[in-house]
Amino acid sequence: MSAPKILITEPVPQKVIDYLGNMGEVLVAEKGIYNSELQLKKDIRDFDALLCMLSTPVTNAVLEEAKNLKVIANFAVGYNNIDVKAANELGIKVANTPDVLTEACGDFAMALLMATTRHFYDAEKYLRKGEFKGWEPLGFLGMELRGKNLGIVGMGRIGKAFATRAKAFGMNIFYHNRSSISGTDEKELEATFIDTIEELAQRSDVLSLNCPLTPETYHLVDNHILELMPSNSILIDISRGPVVDEAALAEALHKGMIGGAGLDVFEEEPNVHPRLLTAPNCTMLPHIASATYETREAIGMLAANAIIQVLRGDKDEQIPNLVFA
Ligand code: DGY
Repeated sequence: MSAPKILITEPVPQKVIDYLGNMGEVLVAEKGIYNSELQLKKDIRDFDALLCMLSTPVTNAVLEEAKNLKVIANFAVGYNNIDVKAANELGIKVANTPDVLTEACGDFAMALLMATTRHFYDAEKYLRKGEFKGWEPLGFLGMELRGKNLGIVGMGRIGKAFATRAKAFGMNIFYHNRSSISGTDEKELEATFIDTIEELAQRSDVLSLNCPLTPETYHLVDNHILELMPSNSILIDISRGPVVDEAALAEALHKGMIGGAGLDVFEEEPNVHPRLLTAPNCTMLPHIASATYETREAIGMLAANAIIQVLRGDKDEQIPNLVFA
């Protein structure tokens, strides 16, 4: 029997490539070539396993061509780039990589919040341009965090990791979720469940999006929610871009309806809405919340283990954090 063929759609940490190399024949694609459905449709027929990125569109049309495919492992948390239903109907297993990125994303959410409230990027630009002529009592004033309300939409693992850090900074934690979290977690975080996203928006000095992208969360933050947010409040999004109506957010920032935004994700990555690029108090980063050496390796190894488990047909092996959709 010939060795299984495994396609990795972007260069990933070498350890992951070597590990999968023990299992089969690995092809690591050049950066970006499988961001198109067309290219993937053409090539997928040859492969038994796919390790793909959240930028890889694994659509129904792609899956129809995937005659040999047995497993898809997403190098991401969530499945919004994959037609999971179509894959399951074809008997193709689908896995993602939850939890291994929780701490990196919790750290990053805190950093993005501070960069936004304390104007790191505008202040840095000012210094580099040679405009720093001396200490100013009124220069770059920002919002202090102690005693402020943090509203978290989606109190899953990453939401809780952010809440833990924010609590240590003296923030009051509120959240909205499909259902309330356990009493122990609520107690530990001193977190209060809020019934509606509208009320959460009204009460939050900082509104943070930590929910998955689903049909229900698409454009969850729209003009209506932005109007309810206090005029000095900050929106943080490290979840998925389409959770926010980017055009509405850009307008809200230009009009001063809210105080600022920190964004790591965008509606049509890698494109950014042109009005956002000129919006005031908007920190924007290129989807790097999970970008630590440790986490990216852990994501890759978990995805690789999903592939190995399916290709070996080893159903009983217990691998921490490994779940199939
Ligand atoms: C995610 O799922 O957003 C991670 O950053 C990995 O892609």
